[in-house]
This record gives sequence, structure tokens and C-alpha cells, in this order.
Amino acid sequence: MNKPIPVILDADPGHDDAIAWVVANASKDLKILACTAVNGNCNVYKAAYNSQRIMALIGLDVPVARGRNCPLYRQRLQAPTNVHGESGLDGPPLPEPKRELDSRSAAQLMADVLKESDEKVTIVATGPLTNVATLLLGYPELKEKIQTISIMGGGIKYGNWTPAAEFNILVDPEAADIVFRSGIPVIMAGLDVTEKALVYPEDVEAIRQIGNPVSEIVWRWLEFFYKFHLNLGYPGAPMHDLCAVMALIHPEVFRIEEMYVEVETEGYYSVGQTVGDINHITDHQPNTRALMDVDRRRFIDLMIDYIRSYSEVK
Ligand code: RIB
Ligand code: CA
Repeated sequence: MNKPIPVILDADPGHDDAIAWVVANASKDLKILACTAVNGNCNVYKAAYNSQRIMALIGLDVPVARGRNCPLYRQRLQAPTNVHGESGLDGPPLPEPKRELDSRSAAQLMADVLKESDEKVTIVATGPLTNVATLLLGYPELKEKIQTISIMGGGIKYGNWTPAAEFNILVDPEAADIVFRSGIPVIMAGLDVTEKALVYPEDVEAIRQIGNPVSEIVWRWLEFFYKFHLNLGYPGAPMHDLCAVMALIHPEVFRIEEMYVEVETEGYYSVGQTVGDINHITDHQPNTRALMDVDRRRFIDLMIDYIRSYSEVK
């Protein structure tokens, strides 16, 4: 077995972020070094508290820090509470934090983890990219310690908050622009793939039947998340953020296209758009591995297996 990939998880939990962390923590192919919370689905204070509670649920004891409560330059874009609820992670009651928040900011914690690691680290960012951009702006010398930035964000073909822009990118387009221009390889799980990574009611039922302490929470998170998407006409709950994790541990279930991606930061109608040179008509070298399709059945079966593995922890 290959050495586990050292990762930092940066998120705005959020139901799908939480499920992504459940799977990341269960995978023997990843070694989680730290967690950081970013403003997005909810304000950063709630995102940090939710991060701590998820970590308590899954037995993840690593440093956890809070980032900025606003984008680099723009006003906060507040997601409505009907998506993830008032708390940002409504649904089943969760354990109280077992780990105090680190006194460092998210960017400072990320920087220290990179400095202390004797190997390159991968950042898995499933919310707006404010913390990652703050890291890159503040510590440019540490770019060489970052192996990859695997994100949930964007969409080559369409958006979900505007016709052009996906939420995570739209919240902080300048931060996303910094990440895609950084020279660090990006894996992009955009809407092109995440809206095919759907959990159907029968998959929720399969998780409900597992009956371990983690599955008992996950199926209830899915039930909450599914209801919101059902009202939007989705046939299932999209596992947006889990795609950014699964791309690292099971890339074989995706169709991945290498392309040059840049972020629109000024367009009146298109700000936040991830513009992908899918037909290679420019002479830019690709900077992104864009996930464009997924074998849903295999993806979901893997997800369920990881959730089931919490039963085996004595
Ligand atoms: O657009 C989907 C993204 O926005 C996901 O990361 C979800 O958690 C929200 O942050
Ligand atoms: Ca998210």
C-alpha cells in the first residue's frame, strides 16, 4: 500500500462538507494533519463550531482553526438558511467539541503544518477559497510544500448561484483566481461532476441500516440535505464536497480532463465563472484536472463502505 497522502481539510460545514470529512477520516489513503473553517454555507464561527463537532463525532483529533469571516475583498455572500439550516449543519444532535479551537488563524495553522511536514501536503478545500488564498498571499514561499489543491468549486458548463457561477467560487472570486493562478496543480470537482454524484433515497436507506454511531448521523444529514434538493427538482442529494476527497483516493471512478481554467472576477453577469479551455484553443498549459463525469454506483458504494468502516473501530 502506498504511503497515505498528508492533507489539510478546509471547509464550510455544511452537510456535504461533513460527509466528505467522514469519508476522508475513514480512508487509510489519507493522513489528516489539520482542519480549518471558512465562511460560506454559514458564518465562520458556526463553520468552526460545526467542524469541531464533526471531528468529535468521527474521532478526529488534529488542530482545528477558524479563518476570516469575509472574502478577501467583497462583502459576505450569505447563503440562505434553508440549504444547511440555521446552524449550518441542522439535523441530528451532534457531540460537543472535544478539541478547542487553535489560537492561530486558519492560514497560520496551514502555514505551520506545511513548514513542519517533511513531505508535500495536499489541501482539500470544499468551501470558498478565502483561507487558501490567504495562505498563498501570506506565505508564498510555502507554495512548494503544497502537492495539490483539490477543490469542490466551479462548473465548466454552468453555475448554481448564477447561471455562470457556482457558490464557492462566487463567494470569493478573487481568492479562487489566486488559487488557479498559483502554479499549484488543482483538482476541480465542479458542478459538471458533483451534480451527477447523487445519493438516492435507497442509498440513504442502505446507510440507515448500517447502525453504527457515525451512520446514524450521516443518514439523517442526508435526509435533511435531500429534502432541500428534492424541492429544487433534484432526484437525489448531490455529494458535491465528497468528490474533492474521492478524487484523491479513488480517481478511477471519475472521467478527468486536463485543461486551463481561469476565474472571471469582473464580469457583470459572469463574475465567479470558472472558464475552462476544454477544447484547448489557447496556448495556456493546463493548470487543472477537471472532474467531468463519475460512475455514480461505484462512487456511492465506496461512500457507504467508508461509512460502514466506522463499525469496525472498537
Ligand atoms: O455549490 C456547492 C458548494 O456550496 C458545496 O461545497 C456546498 O457545501 C456549498 O459550500
Ligand atoms: Ca462546502
